[in-house]
Amino acid sequence: MKPVGPRDAALEVLLELIEQGRALDEILATSKFTARGLAGRDLALCRELSWGVCRWYFELRRLLAPRLRKPLRARDRDVEIILLLGVYQLLVMDVKPHAAVHQSVEQTRARGKSWAAGLVNAVLRGLVREGIDRASLDASRAYPEWMIARVRADWGERAAGVLANGTDRAPMTLRVDLRRVARDGMLETLAKAGIAASAHATVDSAICLAEAVGVDELPGFEQGLLSVQDAAAQLAAPLLDCTAGARVLDACAAPGGKTAHLLQHYPEIDLDALDIAPRRLERVAQNLRRIGLSARLITGDAAQPATWHEGEPYDAILADVPCSASGVMRRHPDIRLLRRESDIMPLVERQAELVDALWTLLKPGGRLLYCTCSIFLAENRCQVERFLQRHDDARVIDPGKRSDWLPQQPGAQILTGEQGMDGFYYALLAKAPGQ
Ligand SMILES: C[S@@+](CC[C@H](N)C(=O)[O-])C[C@H]1O[C@@H](n2cnc3c(N)ncnc32)[C@H](O)[C@@H]1O
Repeated sequence: MKPVGPRDAALEVLLELIEQGRALDEILATSKFTARGLAGRDLALCRELSWGVCRWYFELRRLLAPRLRKPLRARDRDVEIILLLGVYQLLVMDVKPHAAVHQSVEQTRARGKSWAAGLVNAVLRGLVREGIDRASLDASRAYPEWMIARVRADWGERAAGVLANGTDRAPMTLRVDLRRVARDGMLETLAKAGIAASAHATVDSAICLAEAVGVDELPGFEQGLLSVQDAAAQLAAPLLDCTAGARVLDACAAPGGKTAHLLQHYPEIDLDALDIAPRRLERVAQNLRRIGLSARLITGDAAQPATWHEGEPYDAILADVPCSASGVMRRHPDIRLLRRESDIMPLVERQAELVDALWTLLKPGGRLLYCTCSIFLAENRCQVERFLQRHDDARVIDPGKRSDWLPQQPGAQILTGEQGMDGFYYALLAKAPGQ
């Protein structure tokens, strides 16, 4: 098998993403690149290039468009991606101009597209000559037009900040198992291991690392003292407020970040963890094995409880429903390319179906925590507003004040980047007690 270098691998990854609509993580998880010798620093560079081009894709294209006399044909998408990789290296990675230009030209030739070598050379040199630099990139425009329009319509004067924050790199945030170790103690342990970290300003269980590290370098990770989880996601378990012995359902559980937190936070609950995807449910099992706690794992469709639910209704339900993931684009920059505007309404309808079905499984007097990692009102505030109109026996519990979220009517919204957090929405719903 022909070995592959990091730039060619990044080109192949991006082509596959754009042409086949597959996610970056999914493409890189296949062994085809490692089988061709991509490892260590080269693998890291391939990741940096492909993740980085996705992060800036729409803005880099905007910069390129006036510099191409006519748009490239679909069959020359590889040439366009070579140009995007070149511009990204020049502007964001600060690669020396002659090196970035030379590599891009050689890469074009190696694809058998010598006719485009002059074009690549001229466009990249032109950018260098014009003094275009990182400051020329507008982070708030690094999205498809429909996304920019939706965020503006939803968030008005806050929109530019939300969009700019969404182009940043997300910090690596850890959750401490506070039942077993204090956060200060964990910070000392990390410092001794040479890992720079600080306490999160608003979430008690969260620690932010100055730089990302491999989980195998984290002291206490294998024992479950530390887990990787964004600080906004760490609010779910405490918000659900479960009592000892409660019967609880984590309805969309995989990969199990919140399942694990629920069990660590409330060791005495009886937890069912449900997911529709059996392979993703295996990741929940792995996560629980690591932290040494257990739940009943169920493969099933939360919208069809009759197919999997037997026995008692639940005291509490966590509904972390599938969503646009528009709040986690810092971690998954490919969402900007993969998500279509036409995906949103079907998602909203699916969420409504899920939460309606789950409501039937809740005991009178029970609580359901609805959450998404979305910043779109349609999936959040508007979704819950409509739910309340459909269900006379539902009322929303006031989420209270926090400096890191915006109270909504109903629920609360964390906007991307607020206190370094992902974009998240929470609404806690209570079912009327039985008569
Ligand atoms: C946002 S993710 C959940 C993340 C998870 N709660 C965590 O904290 O790690 C949504 C999950 O819902 C699952 N899902 C989608 N449709 C479902 C359905 N109809 N019933 C149950 N699970 C579903 C997906 O497979 C996915 O794992």
